[in-house]
Amino acid sequence: MSTTEAEDYKRAAAIAAAEEIEDGMRLGLGTGSTVAHLLPAIAARGFTRLRCVATSVATERQAADLGLTVEPFTSLTALDLAIDGADQIAPDGWIVKGGGGAHTREKIVAAAAQRFVVIADGTKVVDALAAPVPLELLAYGLPATLAALGDTAVREGAPPSPDGGVIADYAGDVSDPAALAARLSDTPGVIDHGLFPPSLTSEVIVAGPDGVTRRALA
Ligand code: 5RP
Repeated sequence: MSTTEAEDYKRAAAIAAAEEIEDGMRLGLGTGSTVAHLLPAIAARGFTRLRCVATSVATERQAADLGLTVEPFTSLTALDLAIDGADQIAPDGWIVKGGGGAHTREKIVAAAAQRFVVIADGTKVVDALAAPVPLELLAYGLPATLAALGDTAVREGAPPSPDGGVIADYAGDVSDPAALAARLSDTPGVIDHGLFPPSLTSEVIVAGPDGVTRRALA
């Protein structure tokens, strides 16, 4: 798949997801190049009462530039819908996110939403999840946390998250995502990890050469 084709498929998935938005919704906006196609598709619908929260500074800036109303995620307790991209989507619905280091905020927003919709081009659909799994770690005690995790390295060149966390990647075995997610969550110093369980995602929208496919999960 060429870069241009991949961008076309990301845009197609994003446009399909934008059709699920209704005016007046409280909407969570994810982060990444697929979401970058979503924002103009939302703006083009001309809503006047949409209330958005953003999972990254980049998304917040792009959304505001397009005239969308973005609020800090302190003024809303729940969202009607959240839409976000993904790095890997497995057949059983487990998803890896955090390629952009925004997975902690993205998981908070997904969990707060009545419906969480994942959008992707077909290259994100995998037979089985593989490393790396992105992590956000507390800076305090970082060497001890890395030692406890094993197979983990701080992501080279990645800035701290907007909340001050250190972005790292776990490169070990990912064959049992539920067990790994539990272990990562139980490790002191791990703020959050990029494994999203099937129960968190309502629908996956994937676009490829055969068009747009929608798959309901939770
Ligand atoms: C950011 C994410 C992104 O949603 C994920 O990395 C997919 O990005 P892209 O749409 O650029 O492929 O989880 O933390």
